[in-house]
Amino acid sequence: MKQYVIGLISGTSVDGIDAALVELSGSTQDLRVALLAGATYPYPEALRSQILSVCEGAALTMTEFAQLDEAIAQVFAQAAIAIQAGQPTATLIGSHGQTVFHRPPGSTGESQSLSALPSQLGYSLQLGRGALMAHLTGITTINNFRAADIAAGGQGAPLVSPVDVCLLSHPIYHRCVQNIGGIGNVTFLPAIDSEFRQTKPILGWDTGPGNALLDLAVHRLSQGKLTFDRNGDWAAQGTPCQMLVQQWLQQDYFQQPPPKSTGRELFGEAYLETCLADAASHTLAPADILATLTELTAASIAQSYDAFLPQRPDQVLLCGGGSHNLYLKQRIQANLDQAVVLTTDEAGLNSDFKEAIAFAVLAYWRNCGIPGNLPEVTGAQKSVLLGDIHLVS
Ligand SMILES: Nc1ncnc2c1ncn2[C@@H]1O[C@H](COP(=O)(O)OP(=O)(O)OP(=O)(O)O)[C@@H](O)[C@H]1O
Ligand SMILES: [Mg+2]
Repeated sequence: MKQYVIGLISGTSVDGIDAALVELSGSTQDLRVALLAGATYPYPEALRSQILSVCEGAALTMTEFAQLDEAIAQVFAQAAIAIQAGQPTATLIGSHGQTVFHRPPGSTGESQSLSALPSQLGYSLQLGRGALMAHLTGITTINNFRAADIAAGGQGAPLVSPVDVCLLSHPIYHRCVQNIGGIGNVTFLPAIDSEFRQTKPILGWDTGPGNALLDLAVHRLSQGKLTFDRNGDWAAQGTPCQMLVQQWLQQDYFQQPPPKSTGRELFGEAYLETCLADAASHTLAPADILATLTELTAASIAQSYDAFLPQRPDQVLLCGGGSHNLYLKQRIQANLDQAVVLTTDEAGLNSDFKEAIAFAVLAYWRNCGIPGNLPEVTGAQKSVLLGDIHLVS
């Protein structure tokens, strides 16, 4: 039976809330998704800067914490209401919320046993109270998707991989679905046989920086006038310093095998400071610095494919805001030579709203009692139901 579901997410870029209203039917292999409406609702500037400073470690009192949690729930609820204008009314919301803290399990990224000390498990915090959203919208809301996977020893990320499997697997091509948000994440989709079985293991992990370092650098180099490098035009005027890129690629996170996940805790302001300090000894112009950071994103993606996949993909399907960065896309193509670099639009799935669509699907699965994590991707010990259900009282 078909159901209208809203998916909401604000990712590590903290640029705004991506909202998707979808019509869903089927379950997993026969899942059908039609995107009825998609929009991005920017955060009010004051709320965005507060979130960014909290992500950078700013301390909050519990009163401030509660206010922030509620303020985020309110703007998410407004996005859910706005996306339904002129559309059928949704009966379910899947809200990822806003990540403000992410600690992957352990220090090695290996999956943990259930007897692990709590401190060896991961911890990931998304704000935007589900009960308040259900109250404000009058729609059952599911949120807190990462906690159950983490409690089962997983990374709690990437969570979109099972949705990629259902919607983007191909009978001939081995595909990588590469999301480029603030952080990048990949799902490797081996070609499927006639019974929809993957011919090789499905894999997935956070590749490292997507746009996060670039956005911070653009803000810094433009003296606060710009927040991102539109289409990659600024970086395209520069030349990447390959020596620096090679040096940065030696870093532990890039060497660590999956399952692995990361966030602004690693690839944030302090990381950019180190990059800029390294760049100072190479006399680089601002455009060269941006080209070098863009190259880090592209080369870290390609290096991780070479290191951790059984083979190079035939196709790379980009999605997320970074897929609009044409210079980045060109550099990913250059780093992956014979793989064809496309966007998920070219495979029939909207590249701007794929992550929001995925959280609508995860909520739908939760509601149907279908486990939503892929243990082979997150490293969890087992498949679990993802998300907390908040009914409208
Ligand atoms: N036209 C464009 N040219 C270059 N970069 C763009 C363009 N449009 C968006 N971006 C980049 O994409 C970012 C937003 O992407 P997106 O919303 O996918 O990331 P996110 O919020 O971190 O999401 P998630 O974590 O869910 O993947 C912006 O901060 C910007 O860096
Ligand atoms: Mg975003």
